[in-house]
Amino acid sequence: MKNENKAMQGEFADSRSAQRVDGRRTFLRHSAALTAGLVAGEAAAQSATGNLPPNVPAWMKGEGGALSDGVYGLPSPFEKNVVRRGRGDQVMPGSGSAMTPLQSSRGMITPNGLVFERSHAGIPRIDPAQHRLMVHGMVRQPMIFTMDDLMRLPSVSRIHFLECSGNGSREWRTPFAKSVQVSHGLLSCCEWTGVALSTIFEEAGVQAGAEWVLAEGADASAMTRSLPMAKALEDAMLVYAQNGEALRPENGYPLRLFLPGFEGNMSIKWLRRLKVGAEPFMSREETSKYTDSLPDGTARLFTFSMDAKSVITYPAPDHKLAQRGFYEISGLAWTGNGRIRRVDVSTDGGRNWREAALQEPVLSRALTRFRLPWQWDGKPAVLQSRALDESGYVQPTRSQLVAQRGMNSNYHYNAIQSWAVAASGEISNVHA
Ligand code: CO
Repeated sequence: MKNENKAMQGEFADSRSAQRVDGRRTFLRHSAALTAGLVAGEAAAQSATGNLPPNVPAWMKGEGGALSDGVYGLPSPFEKNVVRRGRGDQVMPGSGSAMTPLQSSRGMITPNGLVFERSHAGIPRIDPAQHRLMVHGMVRQPMIFTMDDLMRLPSVSRIHFLECSGNGSREWRTPFAKSVQVSHGLLSCCEWTGVALSTIFEEAGVQAGAEWVLAEGADASAMTRSLPMAKALEDAMLVYAQNGEALRPENGYPLRLFLPGFEGNMSIKWLRRLKVGAEPFMSREETSKYTDSLPDGTARLFTFSMDAKSVITYPAPDHKLAQRGFYEISGLAWTGNGRIRRVDVSTDGGRNWREAALQEPVLSRALTRFRLPWQWDGKPAVLQSRALDESGYVQPTRSQLVAQRGMNSNYHYNAIQSWAVAASGEISNVHA
């Protein structure tokens, strides 16, 4: 916070010296300009509605709407454009994704109605009273849990990001996305509540030599992935709640696996079965899918962890800068390797970098909000952010990533994102 204030002062100091006036006059001039804008721009609206100062607005002159008794609350109708957007798959009905509107995100938490979704065979409608979790394979005692059984066990709540490993996959080849929602919106962050998977395995008793676990979902694709036993015992969770309420159907109701920092598809939704084994199970989703093709024709398998990544969410192509002057650049950084240590921001395409302020708390494997004050001089600019995590990993430039991974990959695209600001204030997605 201290750094942020210092940086802000520095920013205003620059504009003061440029204009050769003292701070007070700059402030007055600044606010005078804003006031002038309001009066000139909205005079017509004021005479039409009478809702602007100094008039008393219409919504103060009569009783408001009914209270919310018996109603699940929804956002203001004026926020109706803040919704998930995506596309279904024409070839495989039920397969598709819907992305989080990061351009409207504030802070680090994604509200439940905006958490991204990715499904392979639609959203099953599951009666929790009929849902079961079976634990079998290399365990001393195979077990079947009802939801009520799971609710009785010691619980844990943790804030973590969730990112699809295909997030931004189209950006490998061209600066495809016209919005940060499309380029990075397979990304959300929630408080997840459930039971530590280690608790379940202590109950069932894992046999010697059991190194892998198959997790299976109860959707029509029977989504299956193999996870290492080490991860299962480290921090894996059986989750039944997100952000203080039951999971949403599209996010796995009534029960999902959650693997902090791992690619999203590993956190199997609608979890119905865990089979313990000595070897990975080589399911469809880890052989034909979710592998990373390399330039030499081989493929990386079991690339679980999401490496450090960041993106500026404001300003982004979803926005337009109306006039030169002060803007707060704001964005999100995250890493599967632990905590974000630092985020640098460039406004000149990566030639110069400044350290952004990180919003506390900075949590392990959670979204971290960063901010940097910026004076836009009205000239073309290229905005970039670069994340560094506590393991020392630095988010790569696009050319560094392509040099290492080639052009045949789809998953784990985490290159530095460039937003080009034109003199007109329009913002576009570019490869810089
Ligand atoms: Co992977």
